[in-house]
Amino acid sequence: MKPKILVSCGKLNFPDDIADMIKPLAEIVYVTGEYSNELKDASGIIAGIEPINQAFLEKAPKLGIVSRHGVGYDSVDFETCTKRGIFVTHTPDVLSDAVADLTWALILGWYRKIPQADKYTREDWGKKQKGFPFGWDMPAKTLGLLGLGRIGAEVVKRGVGFRVKMIYHDVVRRQDFEEKYGITYVSFEELLKTSDIVSIHVPLIPLTQGMIGREQFLKMKKTALIVNTSRGPVINQKELTEALEQKLIAGAALDVYEVEPIPLGEKLLRLDNILVTPHIASATWETRHRMGERCAESVKAYLEGKRPPFVIPEQRNFKL
Ligand code: 8YV
Repeated sequence: MKPKILVSCGKLNFPDDIADMIKPLAEIVYVTGEYSNELKDASGIIAGIEPINQAFLEKAPKLGIVSRHGVGYDSVDFETCTKRGIFVTHTPDVLSDAVADLTWALILGWYRKIPQADKYTREDWGKKQKGFPFGWDMPAKTLGLLGLGRIGAEVVKRGVGFRVKMIYHDVVRRQDFEEKYGITYVSFEELLKTSDIVSIHVPLIPLTQGMIGREQFLKMKKTALIVNTSRGPVINQKELTEALEQKLIAGAALDVYEVEPIPLGEKLLRLDNILVTPHIASATWETRHRMGERCAESVKAYLEGKRPPFVIPEQRNFKL
């Protein structure tokens, strides 16, 4: 009897050509919604962003690997997985370009009013009754990166071309990037006070949960844009909504939310100083295929009794 591997990230994210990489070694079962019945005899899961917590793990006595289809693994209780001898893997690097591209798409979309321009062109331009408002230039604006990891680094590389002044705050200094790209390390407070654009590129961990709220918005420029392609809960969404209503900052460009999908009745969605996308930063055909391949490589190694190649850093010393 072949071991059973569940796939909860969807067929688009784990298509047949990738599933074929592990089919000789395992039975692949695609699951959606509530799938605890399938968990009982599952050896592994290739997971979306559903919570893989203690309650989940208690229903999966045979689980040996959680392969997160994504770079972020805040949805996984990896401490419990480690205690139970369950590998946790993720898909670093292969999505950094796509997320950095969307970050810049959101910045330029907001600065040049692309959604409004599209609507104006389709509905109003031909009426010749009203003009379209100006946007703003990128050169000389200050881009403040909160977090300079793999994705933040790709945002910086793209920023050189837009001739923005770049500053960053992180728990780790990146002197290599400071020298190569002329980006300056500043305190969190300095970043908030001097940035025209604050772009968030941190993992969701206890240190970063809710790190941007009213207190931080009050320190930001009233002309500032906040951009979030990391995780929604890094920002206090209620206080963001209030800050936008009270014009403490000029706008927000968001790909992630405290609850996803964001409920349609949410007041945030009714504001006109936001640009929003539905957690699509890594959602390109090429990137999602590479992410699926990484998941399959990790699960295949596990099934072959080897250490998976993309184990999360917290399990660097974890042995079979
Ligand atoms: C999602 C992401 O994981 O990489 C991450 O952590 O947030 C996204 O890439 C992906 O959409 C889930 O399949």
